[in-house]
Amino acid sequence: MASTFNLQKVSVSPLLRIGHGVSGLLVSAYVAFHLFNHLFSLFGESAHAQVMEMGRIVYRSPLIEPLLVLALLFQVVTGGILVWKWSAQKTDFYRLFQLATGVFLSIFILSHLNAVFIFARTFAGIETDWSFATGDPVGMLYDPWSVRLIPHYAFGVFFVLAHLGSGLRVVLLAHAAAERKANNVLFATASFAFLISLTIMLGLNGVRF
Ligand code: HEM
Repeated sequence: MASTFNLQKVSVSPLLRIGHGVSGLLVSAYVAFHLFNHLFSLFGESAHAQVMEMGRIVYRSPLIEPLLVLALLFQVVTGGILVWKWSAQKTDFYRLFQLATGVFLSIFILSHLNAVFIFARTFAGIETDWSFATGDPVGMLYDPWSVRLIPHYAFGVFFVLAHLGSGLRVVLLAHAAAERKANNVLFATASFAFLISLTIMLGLNGVRF
């Protein structure tokens, strides 16, 4: 039976792709620190808070913070255009994975920025610290409302790292790497992403060294 979808080759602007990648690298520097910070939950609340205090000097500075938020919004907008373009044509599993992780991340980023900047800091006047992140004192596991954060955060961490792995695969292919090698890099990144996500979630939910 003939397909009802009119899948066709569309042009995806190289400038848009490069812009998304370069801005993504800037965002990645913050994300790397942020996840490193959350790994410290394995050493307890005060270790987590100490690392956050140090990071805040940089990422909450009047110059960096607006740039970081702008870069994230730029990722959401350019990512949305890229998904729109790529999804109009027939694609393989790897591209689909890149698009799907990107769509999840866009929703995650908007929701997370809303929770931190609009809900907590502007509307409720809540400090966005350990208690905010973990639903302290009850914790994510035992609070019927906060428990939703477990899949939300776990997928957020997994998908942000796996999405970077997808981007790295595309860059490797563009630099004439063998397809098998590029695919293996993605699988290795996704496995690493799974381990980091699991470790952070264990730490945020009370597992300690
Ligand atoms: C376990 C997963 C995560 C948890 C528990 C978490 C929690 C938090 C907390 C508590 C803050 C406030 C930080 C502060 O007050 O200094 C924050 C800020 C932020 N998070 Fe996350 N986050 C997670 C994952 C992510 C991911 C995957 C991203 C990016 C894709 C992200 C992006 C941001 C950004 C941009 C901010 C604002 C930084 C600022 O204050 O200027 N987070 N997050």
